[in-house]
Amino acid sequence: MAVERTLCIIKPDAVEKKKAGAILQMLEAAGFTIVACKRTHLTRPVAEGFYAVHKARPFFGELVEFMTRSPVFVAVLERDNAVAKYREVMGATDPAKADANTIRKLHGASVGENAVHGSDSLDNARIEIGYFFPASEVAPVA
Ligand code: CMP
Repeated sequence: MAVERTLCIIKPDAVEKKKAGAILQMLEAAGFTIVACKRTHLTRPVAEGFYAVHKARPFFGELVEFMTRSPVFVAVLERDNAVAKYREVMGATDPAKADANTIRKLHGASVGENAVHGSDSLDNARIEIGYFFPASEVAPVA
């Protein structure tokens, strides 16, 4: 199976609850290598740009408000089949519907405040990684 990279955002709710370390630990235990990771407070334009695909959705304003509320951790995760595997470890968007022991079941509170974001495809993973990290910060090990 191919080695892939995917983007993870540990959202403001989880960072506020001091769960960033616990979430990164779950990801390492699930076989991901954390290739890059930074703590940053998203500005409104950065959050709006990242979620531009959802601009027409009724929850867009709420989503941007939430994502800019306090700092997040943005991380690049690597392993075989990373996109699908991370979506499995992350759990369903709505924590109430997420499987037991997934990140969102353990740490999410609602469909809006759901602890983490993950890329939904390999193409979007490339775009999302490029949105937050210059190529020099995510270069493969020489
Ligand atoms: P995420 O994976 O970050 O991608 C888009 C986000 O929109 C999603 O997780 C949810 O947190 C959020 N979202 C989806 N549906 C709703 C909703 N009905 N109300 C508020 N936020 C939502």
